This record gives sequence, structure tokens and C-alpha cells, in this order.
Amino acid sequence: MTTSSTPLKVLGICGSLRAKSYNKWALATAAKLLPPGMTLETFDLAPIPLYNADVHAQGFPEPVKQLRDKIKAADALLFACPEYNYSISGVLKNAIDWASRPPEQPFEGKPYGILGASMGAGGTMRAQYHLRQVTIFLNAIPLNRPEVFIAAAHTKFDDAGNLTDEPTRKIMADMLAALQAWIIRVRN
Ligand code: FNR
Repeated sequence: MTTSSTPLKVLGICGSLRAKSYNKWALATAAKLLPPGMTLETFDLAPIPLYNADVHAQGFPEPVKQLRDKIKAADALLFACPEYNYSISGVLKNAIDWASRPPEQPFEGKPYGILGASMGAGGTMRAQYHLRQVTIFLNAIPLNRPEVFIAAAHTKFDDAGNLTDEPTRKIMADMLAALQAWIIRVRN
């Protein structure tokens, strides 16, 4: 049971690997907008290999073990979800596929939130709905709203990665507060 001395741990998972990723910047911003009583640590998906059942037959690779352990230990997940061809990125799907394999698949009953940034007008909404679909089978428990779609991302971050758009900062802070309440509600 969480008390004021044990903050709720959120694990951030970003589906983009590039250094100046808007989605990475969005996660970094979320870390600064957390309500009191929450922490956010981001897991780097770069070392996760491509899923191969032959490799898996030898056991989980070390980076996958680490990801699974971090997911298990987290009170909630926060996905930063780029949109690639109207869906989630291969990087994110591949990591979810690895982590989801039995035994004790770590997404079971796990609350999660989503945010996403793209330069397009949809702000990753199509990808986010695909991500929700993927997690149905895994029985993770999504926060429904507020939804965070950062459209025209190139106009909302400065060159140093600061989210300068106030309405977006507000909706992100609202989503994080709702995620905190959601974690407690799911637990109870
Ligand atoms: C994209 N991009 C894109 N954007 C979008 O709004 N809808 C889409 O379907 C796609 N499709 C797409 C496919 C592929 C293969 C790439 C590489 C890119 C553009 C994409 O949103 C943009 O590159 C973002 O900046 C990617 O996120 P990060 O890396 O900035 O986090």
C-alpha cells in the first residue's frame, strides 16, 4: 500500500530512439509536470534486440529481462507513442512483444497512460488507439482521458526540447494527475 513516503513509480517507455525525438522530449517534460507523490524513470529501448523465437528459446536477453523487471516493479507505465504509418513504431511494438511473453507477463493489470507527439495534425491519435488495442490482450489497464495528442510538435517544443506550448503543458499535467488517481482506483 502506498503511503506519502512511498511515491508511485511510473516507468516511461518511448517508442522513438532518435536523440532529438519529440516523444522523448514529451516524456522528459512529463517528468517535470508530475504531481507530488509520483516519480518517473524512463527505460531506454535501444538495447532491446529484434524479437526472434530462436533467441527467446535460449532465455530472455538481458535488456529484455531488465525491461520486464522494471515493468513489474512500476506502479504504472507511461508510453510516449510516435506514429509511424498510422500505427505504433516497430521499436515500441517489438519491446512490448518481448516483454509480453510468459511466464508472468508483466503488463497484466498494469495501469498506464499515453502521450504522443508528431508533426502532423493528428498528434499520434491513430497510433495511440492501436496501442490501446495491443494492450487489450495483455490486460493492461489504460487511462482513458485526458488524451494527450501533441500535434504540430515542431511548433510546440523549442530547439532545446522544452515544451513551450502552455495548453499542451496543462493537458499533460492533467493527464498525469488523472493517472495518479487511476493507479489508486485500479489498486482498490
Ligand atoms: C512518420 N511520421 C508520421 N507522422 C504522423 O503524424 N503520422 C504517420 O503516420 C507518420 N508516419 C511515419 C512513418 C515513419 C516510418 C516515420 C519515420 C515517420 C512522422 C513522425 O511522426 C515524426 O517523424 C516524428 O517526429 C517521430 O517521432 P519522434 O522521433 O520525434 O519522437
